[in-house]
Parts: sequence; structure tokens; C-alpha cells
Amino acid sequence: MKFYLLGYPVGHSVSPPMHNAAFNELGMSHEYSSLGVEPSKLAEIISTRIRADEFGGGSVTIPHKIEMLRLVDELDESAEMAGAVNTLQWKDGVLTGYNTDATGGVRALIESYGDISQTNTVLLGAGGAANALAAQLKPRVKELTILNRTEEKARALAERIGTNFGSIIRDQALIESADIIVNATSVGMHPNVGESPIDKKYLHDGQMVFDIVYNPQKTQIMLDAEEAEGRSLGGLWMLVYQGVEAFEIWTGVRPSAQTMYDAAKMALLERH
Ligand code: ATR
Repeated sequence: MKFYLLGYPVGHSVSPPMHNAAFNELGMSHEYSSLGVEPSKLAEIISTRIRADEFGGGSVTIPHKIEMLRLVDELDESAEMAGAVNTLQWKDGVLTGYNTDATGGVRALIESYGDISQTNTVLLGAGGAANALAAQLKPRVKELTILNRTEEKARALAERIGTNFGSIIRDQALIESADIIVNATSVGMHPNVGESPIDKKYLHDGQMVFDIVYNPQKTQIMLDAEEAEGRSLGGLWMLVYQGVEAFEIWTGVRPSAQTMYDAAKMALLERH
């Protein structure tokens, strides 16, 4: 069957090598490829290439994640919670939209950190990615605090999911008592390498920093955490686990996260 990444532009996405590596390893003769679709053509492509016998499922990326909400037949709760679709399943003539970004991110964190249920977790950011992650993190940790540059957005997010909030400018000291710090801001992302949303003096040993950014693979906040003898987890693992969960939806089979990670990392290296 065929699987597509729908985006525009799709460029050199790491998703095709990542999924094809898992298909190959499991001896599945499926094929995953990128399909650049201009926004004005999305509805047409959905009714021709996607609602087709040979189509198994796909991934959705920028700029189609929100538009896809109204183009599917059914929305899984994960897509409703995130307010966006990143995974499609075509089965028995029904097109279903899921979202595995935040669930995959939290799964990556748990795989690396272990049990997060007793942790005090601080989430940096209050944008789209932070909103989706907050909803998944809140029921799984002991305490979740939102810090954001713009206080009103942190307050709105904290109120929506019923958790604590602070302002990243004034309350950075809250970082000191955190077990896990999740960076869901774009600070430190290429080309602003070298920037961190927090002052490194608040980081210390025993903490884990999880940055959802994967370019660069080690952001400044991750380097700062390691310098302070804490641990760090990069966004490539979030990308991998959103793919692992999509793969499970499509095939019912659990792929090797390590195989997908290795393929994604190799593709990123080749890209530069
Ligand atoms: P995404 O969908 O990737 O989450 P977004 O909705 O634009 O993107 O959110 C970007 C996040 O990064 C926001 O939390 C933003 O803070 P504001 O709410 O104050 O805008 C944060 N961010 C971006 N640039 C920042 C900077 N230079 N310093 C601190 N926070 C920044």
C-alpha cells in the first residue's frame, strides 16, 4: 500500500526514510513518500489520491494540519484535543484523522525518563505545540507549570487545562524546583542556534531537559542542562515517536523506535 506525507513544501523530510526503514525491517512491502500539495489543491488530492484503494494512510504537516480537521470523515479524540491532524488512516472507506505529535512527545519523554507521575514538570511556551503537549502532560505528572514570554497566553493555557502558570520573564526561579523542563518554544531553533529561553543558572543535576526542537539536534538549553550534569532529550525522539504511533495506527504493529531514529538521523545528516 501507499503512504504519503502531505505538506507544502515537503522538501527533504525525514519521514519517508524513517517509515520505509520500519517497513523494510518488518518485511512489509508498503511504500511511504512525500507528496507536496499546494493548499488550494488539498481537497482535490484528498478525494483522488487519498480516497483510493492503494492508499493505506499518511502524515500531515505544515500547512495542512488544521485544514485537515474538516476534510476527514472522522476525528479521533487525539486530533480533537490537539486541534490539528497529523496522521491519516484510510480504512473501509472511512478517512480518520489522528494526532500523534503530543502523545508521541510524551511517550518519548517517558521512554527516556521513566515514570514521570511523581515529577514537577515545567513547560516552556504557550503556542500550538505547547497547548497540545500540556493536555497530554497534565494528567500524567504530579505538577505541571506553564512558563511563557507572554503572560496572558500562559495564563490562558493554564486555565484551560487547570494547572499552574508563571511568566518566563519573572518566574524563572521556578525552574530550580523542576524535575523535567520541556521546551516547546521556538527559541534555540535553527538559525537561532545558541539561544535558550532560560538562564542556565537555574539548571542543576538530576533534572531532565526535553526540547521539542530537532534542528539543531542539541539546542543551547540541552547543552546547558548537560553542563549542569542534568540529562537532555532532543526533539528527534518526539518526531520518531509520533511516527511510531502513526505506524501502529496504520499497521497494528509496533515498529522499532531505534530503527526509525537511526534512519531519521541519517537523513538529517545527509540533508546538511
Ligand atoms: P508552535 O505552533 O510551534 O507552538 P507558536 O504557536 O508560534 O508555535 O508558539 C511559539 C512559542 O515560542 C510561544 O510560546 C512563544 O512565546 P509568546 O507566546 O510570548 O509569543 C515562544 N517564543 C517564540 N520566540 C520567543 C522568544 N524569542 N523568547 C521567548 N519565547 C519565544
